[in-house]
Amino acid sequence: MEPAAAARGSGYTYEQYKETADWLLAHTHHRPSLAIICGSGLGGLADLLKDPVTFNYKDIPNFPQSTVAGHAGQLVFGTLAGVTCLVMNGRFHMYEGYPLWKVTFPVRIFCLLGAKSLIVTNAAGGLNPGYQVGDIMVIRDHINMPGMAGVNPLTGPNDERFGPRFPAMSDAYDEELRSLALAVGKELGFGASLHEGTYCTLGGPNYETVAECRFLHKLGADTVGMSTVPEVIVARHCGLRVFGFSLVTNKSVLEYGARERANHAEVLEAGRHAARKLERLVSVLVERMKGKGLV
Ligand code: HPA
Repeated sequence: MEPAAAARGSGYTYEQYKETADWLLAHTHHRPSLAIICGSGLGGLADLLKDPVTFNYKDIPNFPQSTVAGHAGQLVFGTLAGVTCLVMNGRFHMYEGYPLWKVTFPVRIFCLLGAKSLIVTNAAGGLNPGYQVGDIMVIRDHINMPGMAGVNPLTGPNDERFGPRFPAMSDAYDEELRSLALAVGKELGFGASLHEGTYCTLGGPNYETVAECRFLHKLGADTVGMSTVPEVIVARHCGLRVFGFSLVTNKSVLEYGARERANHAEVLEAGRHAARKLERLVSVLVERMKGKGLV
């Protein structure tokens, strides 16, 4: 980061955020009230949108580029269950070498575009021994490991135009949306494959050691991944209502001598397998949110 950017905290000026948002508003007639961020292998959600208008990240002013397989690098506007949405197909991660102000840049754009709610999705390891590959966990809370070491997207001078210096995080994941999602999952027959729990984020890119998995599970984490939390923090800072879920793409290794090891191909494959299930959950959830005036 050049010195001026370091002094600002975010490497972007408010004018740059505005420039990107205004460019998008000038290039689409859609005015999204809901934004959805897709995790690894979960980009199929973008295909659900009607009347889609798609932008490649490389064509959007100031937008970072996605470098990970399974992340398309597209922003897709359209309607889902009658709600105008914006789907981010391909997110940014700390392990790609991006500072967190860059990882979370799109969230402030969603806010400036007028979105009021954010749905975050991720592929995650299942730390809770009761979770199986393909299970879905509604995120009730998170543990921000990089944040505990001082790595936080809100570090640096605060821009009050986005939100307060010290935002609360005790109610980060909206209670009404969580209970609605659990009710929808029940209705769709997800049964014991739907959970509610705590997501823990790490910096990555390596998967966890056995000792780390045991430690995180003892701390109270049910799933572990390398994303989501920075975006949620910035979303809550700027007042977006947040709902999130993890797709369990692998079981975390909690025993020495276990034969399974996490790998990216397995993560993407599990995402592909569970895609229909996730798509149904999200589209019915959005429909119900609309019915209840929550979006
Ligand atoms: N650990 C961290 N990130 C992940 C995992 C995991 O086991 N699976 C998918 N993303």
